[in-house]
Amino acid sequence: MTIAITGASGALGRATAELVLQRVDPAQVVLTTRHPESLADLAARGADVRRADFSDASTLPGAFAGVDRLLLVSTDTVGERLDQQRDAIAAAAAAGVQHVVYTSVPEPVAANPAGVVPDHAGTEQALRDSGLTWTMLRNNLYAHMQLPVLEQAAASGQLVTNTGDGATAYVTREDCAAAAAAVLTTDGHDGRAYDITGPEALTAADLVALARRTSGREVELVALDDDAYRAGLRSAGLPEPVADLLTSFGASVRGGFLATVSSAVLDLTGHQPTALADLVPAA
Ligand SMILES: NC(=O)c1ccc[n+]([C@@H]2O[C@H](COP(=O)([O-])OP(=O)(O)OC[C@H]3O[C@@H](n4cnc5c(N)ncnc54)[C@H](OP(=O)(O)O)[C@@H]3O)[C@@H](O)[C@H]2O)c1
Repeated sequence: MTIAITGASGALGRATAELVLQRVDPAQVVLTTRHPESLADLAARGADVRRADFSDASTLPGAFAGVDRLLLVSTDTVGERLDQQRDAIAAAAAAGVQHVVYTSVPEPVAANPAGVVPDHAGTEQALRDSGLTWTMLRNNLYAHMQLPVLEQAAASGQLVTNTGDGATAYVTREDCAAAAAAVLTTDGHDGRAYDITGPEALTAADLVALARRTSGREVELVALDDDAYRAGLRSAGLPEPVADLLTSFGASVRGGFLATVSSAVLDLTGHQPTALADLVPAA
């Protein structure tokens, strides 16, 4: 069986590729990327590195030829990627791929205000409609992305948020990669949607407590509504689309859409997921 990973030069794609290459014959591993030269080290280990760019459909038939099971890593072009990811799914089906694993988001439903939801919901729907078998890996927010937030809170004495009392089950990218590698290299995941989460869901008050504990400094929680939060991000110099996206994630957290804690990482990988607190260096 040939396993392929798209976006294999990205952080998640490469981490997953490293794990898959430890488990299966490299001759049965295809790695696709827009930048084949950046995967020369994995090609030297025997992986078949091919060029694929979802925005150039002509690259896709060759990239997916002979592949049985494909990890489709969602791209980073929020708002533009849905048609590209639909093209990739159609190309996978045309090339004879049997099973597609897709990196999605928790609760990709219309009520979830996170700005990434339409792309993920549309891609999940395209997979369901494709006739392929599929698995959704609904990755929660990356834990490492909170480290600058905690640092900034410790430095300024304030943690500013629009998440209200909502909680987030932050997960490490390494655990997301381990879960993806497990799904790619074992059977029994057809038609499953896994919430890939850390071991606990943390509120903004929990983050404040963590910032205090790890920095030894006083940190206060500043709770804003969406408009005030977005205005603060704009006045700090963030471009409007970024401010809108970050604000939408806060609203999603506040609505409870990122709070589910699952046992999927443990079930799939055999190890407990890493907690955000374990990533924070002690002061
Ligand atoms: N859970 C979270 O908190 C979180 C945070 C950020 C992003 N994400 C999502 O998870 C994905 C993987 O995360 P990451 O940490 O690996 O991000 P990353 O390092 O920024 O990787 C971006 C990925 O997008 C791929 N890509 C971009 N344009 C593409 C195109 N035209 N055709 C094919 N692939 C394209 C890249 O592939 P190549 O460069 O190899 O072509 C790469 O795999 C992101 O792309 C995003 O959808 C999740």
